[in-house]
Amino acid sequence: MSVLPTIIQGGMGAGVSSWRLARAVSQLGQLGVVSGTALDLILARRLQDGDPGGHMRRGLDRFPNREMADRIWQTYYVPGGKPQRAPYKLLPTHSKNSPIELQELCVVANFVEVTLAREGHNNAVGINYLEKVQLPHLPSIYGAMLAGVGYVLMGAGVPLRIPGVLDRFANHEPATYLLQVTGADEGGDRTMVFAPKAFVVRDLPSLTRPTFIAIVSSNTLATTMLRKSDGKVDGLVIEGYTAGGHNAPPRGKLQLDERGEAIYGERDAVDLTKIRELGMPFWLAGGYGSHEKLTEALAAGAAGVQVGTAFAFCEESGLSQNHKRTLLAKVLAGTARVFTDPFASPTSFPFKVARLEGSLSEDEIYSSRPRVCDLGYLREAYRTPSGTIDYRCSAEPVTTYVSKGGRVEDTFGKKCLCNALMANIGHPQVRNGKYTEHPLITSGNELTEISRFLPVGSSTYTASDVVAKLMSGRYSRPLGSFSCDISHR
Ligand SMILES: Cc1cc2nc3c(=O)[nH]c(=O)nc-3n(C[C@H](O)[C@H](O)[C@H](O)COP(=O)(O)O)c2cc1C
Repeated sequence: MSVLPTIIQGGMGAGVSSWRLARAVSQLGQLGVVSGTALDLILARRLQDGDPGGHMRRGLDRFPNREMADRIWQTYYVPGGKPQRAPYKLLPTHSKNSPIELQELCVVANFVEVTLAREGHNNAVGINYLEKVQLPHLPSIYGAMLAGVGYVLMGAGVPLRIPGVLDRFANHEPATYLLQVTGADEGGDRTMVFAPKAFVVRDLPSLTRPTFIAIVSSNTLATTMLRKSDGKVDGLVIEGYTAGGHNAPPRGKLQLDERGEAIYGERDAVDLTKIRELGMPFWLAGGYGSHEKLTEALAAGAAGVQVGTAFAFCEESGLSQNHKRTLLAKVLAGTARVFTDPFASPTSFPFKVARLEGSLSEDEIYSSRPRVCDLGYLREAYRTPSGTIDYRCSAEPVTTYVSKGGRVEDTFGKKCLCNALMANIGHPQVRNGKYTEHPLITSGNELTEISRFLPVGSSTYTASDVVAKLMSGRYSRPLGSFSCDISHR
């Protein structure tokens, strides 16, 4: 029997819920979660920035295959960091059969992030992936498991085949994953394969299967996850549409209000009675970052809450310090605004955006950006007329997208999240020594409330301030009394 966390610090990509944040939260006895999105790219850019503090080197030194870790170091490490106006090296983009060096980078980068998050304590650490970003799944998950990740949390899609992958990797067995390919028929070969033993040959540690938590936003999806998964689903996060990051689209036809935001209605509400009847632990997310909302969630039968926005702006988060400071100042001035953009994300899910001068939330900054797609995490796989698989992104140059069979109307308002999210965490690409990629900060609607975490007289707050505020006061039942037969470290 193991005690479940009351607070899950939500996975925040890319790099916002970094190893530092997850470690801080897990050290406090709650569940710290690193984002598993684009960790290969993040490791490569941290190394090109000179690995300040030597943390990546420390993580690499723990990897079971020394030669593989050294290859990565030699390829990307720049002593003292690259010159500010120099571009970062481009990685090969992911594909159904990604080059071996990219798969290695994924395994190692996920290993390093989880290893660092687990340093200095014995509590569980989780990793979060977006189901829609499928191409790096297998090597990423294996790398995180090699580092002893305790929880895998996944949403933004229907991750029915992830539990089976965890089962197989726990025994270092090969696993497969079916790639979603637009326009492909059932028979086509869409299977991605990853065989652990081909990668890490020596000293394979024995692994424990991580606890798997699916992030869902409807009763239907919750039930589907439990009935149709190919392995055990251990819990659910029920996420509402005020949450930061991507949101599930509203049910039915998309309707916009006068501000241009998607309208959600009664059909989007989740019936918690039915969730309780599923008989498994669940956490509520989306506007649950306060003591009152935590108490409400516990009273509704939840094991606790998943909180993102409050942690995104604390000192340990991976967001650039200047973005945190500027947005906190806006919160204090009462001028912070969050917009649910129905079009920005190439995934076609609504994406929450904090209004910030100098970022892609502003029209003139967006329209001055030349469309370039050179990172490719959000590309959609599609079947070409000749029957092969190719990739396209609705934020890439319009003519390229249309030449690949994409519809021109799908490109309107699309923003390159891949490059923006790297800029958010201080690794913006620089083009021709002149153009520097701009950020685009995502946040939940609760952004306007985060000043409540500031200690008196302070202009910043820590993960510990968030946890202390949420856990303060009395509960209707003792904390930590929730337990179940799932195992985690
Ligand atoms: C900056 C930011 C990035 C996020 N990125 C992800 C992500 O990559 N994957 C995911 O499942 N959820 C993501 N989320 C959602 C959080 O994990 C969490 O469920 C949500 O923030 C909870 O609602 P709250 O923002 O009202 O606290 C993100 C949230 C924020 C604020």
